[in-house]
Amino acid sequence: MPELIPARIVSTGLFTPENTITNEELVASFNAWVEKHNANHPDDQKDPSSAEFIEKASGIKSRYVLDKEGILDIDRMRPKLPVRDNEQLSIMAEIGVLAARQAMKNADLHGKDIDAVICAASNMQRAYPAMAVEVQQALEIDGYGFDMNVACASAAFGIQNAVGLLQTGARRVLMVNPEICSSHLNFRDRDAHFIFGDVATAVIIERAEGVPTPDSWDIVDTRLKTLFSNNIRNNFGFLNHTSDELDISDPDTDKLFKQEGRKVFKDVVPMVGALIAEHLADNGVATDDLKRMWLHQANLNMNLFIARKVLGRDATGEEAPVVLDEYANTSSAGSIIAFHKHRDGFEVGDVGVISGFGAGYSAGSVIVRKAA
Ligand SMILES: CC(C)(COP(=O)(O)OP(=O)(O)OC[C@H]1O[C@@H](n2cnc3c(N)ncnc32)[C@H](O)[C@@H]1OP(=O)(O)O)[C@@H](O)C(=O)NCCC(=O)NCCS
Repeated sequence: MPELIPARIVSTGLFTPENTITNEELVASFNAWVEKHNANHPDDQKDPSSAEFIEKASGIKSRYVLDKEGILDIDRMRPKLPVRDNEQLSIMAEIGVLAARQAMKNADLHGKDIDAVICAASNMQRAYPAMAVEVQQALEIDGYGFDMNVACASAAFGIQNAVGLLQTGARRVLMVNPEICSSHLNFRDRDAHFIFGDVATAVIIERAEGVPTPDSWDIVDTRLKTLFSNNIRNNFGFLNHTSDELDISDPDTDKLFKQEGRKVFKDVVPMVGALIAEHLADNGVATDDLKRMWLHQANLNMNLFIARKVLGRDATGEEAPVVLDEYANTSSAGSIIAFHKHRDGFEVGDVGVISGFGAGYSAGSVIVRKAA
């Protein structure tokens, strides 16, 4: 791997929607839909969901969403987000901007201090113009922006890309991860209806020159990995328009998120465990010297296994903080929420790792060291 230029994370921001849906609320709506569906489809009987199963299998207790009513309405079962006029800030840019403003305020930075914007997310609301360019305009940033999607690993890939942009002249890069996951979730799919929540995170990365500002983190190294798999897939896209068979209201549609959860679990745990362990070893970081892992927040048991694979023992709650109980899976934003909320207690020089992983398969590891 080529030598990376010194880069630092100097701030983060988080936007959390106001509405929450508990497992119990979600299951009550799902089961009411099942009852109605079964009464109308004697040949297609669906099984009910259970809040106990959801918490035991995933660790998720609730999630934040932009619209609660539309999701819980059994005659709709998808969020209702009114279409905005093209002259208005789009909803994805809006939540990205809210997270970004917090990150900028935390580091006392303004639009003029930033040269590039990356919108790294799984759930893009349109093809173009890029949401990143819209965010750039809203924040009065003179430079450039682009969108990128590497599913749940988008933030780790985004940080690596930001480092690359610093290398080509940018002083500071803003990365936003606006994830409206409820828009691509099939709330009629018992295997998955509980998985996701909505949120936006922001990270500001700058060239590490001069005295580090308070709460800044050197990026020691980044490592990325992909391996093709159909086990997490979403076939929604622009070629759907060319098909005569599109029926997105079909409860079994493949035009929304679909996964083989058990297979994902089995494949991704060893892949990510090995990626992080090897990345740390190659950078001379002994596991005893690793203070914290801010892991992607998809499944609690998955994170426990990955942490055990890296450390060779069980991780404490402090070593591998959990936010998925409250936020559910927020795709690319999960590891950044964990980093945003749980980076206290570090001394200068202490090391941690941010890791995102998911569809593709894709995985990224970002080793950071407290600079100030
Ligand atoms: C999705 C996930 C929570 C499911 O947990 P799991 O333990 O693998 O559960 P399974 O799908 O094997 O199902 C186990 C049983 O629970 C049942 N079940 C599935 N969904 C249920 C629900 N909502 N309520 C009640 N029971 C349910 C299944 O029918 C199955 O029953 P059976 O044993 O009688 O056949 C888990 O596999 C997971 O999180 N995987 C990783 C996913 C991931 O990280 N994806 C990345 C996305 S970015």
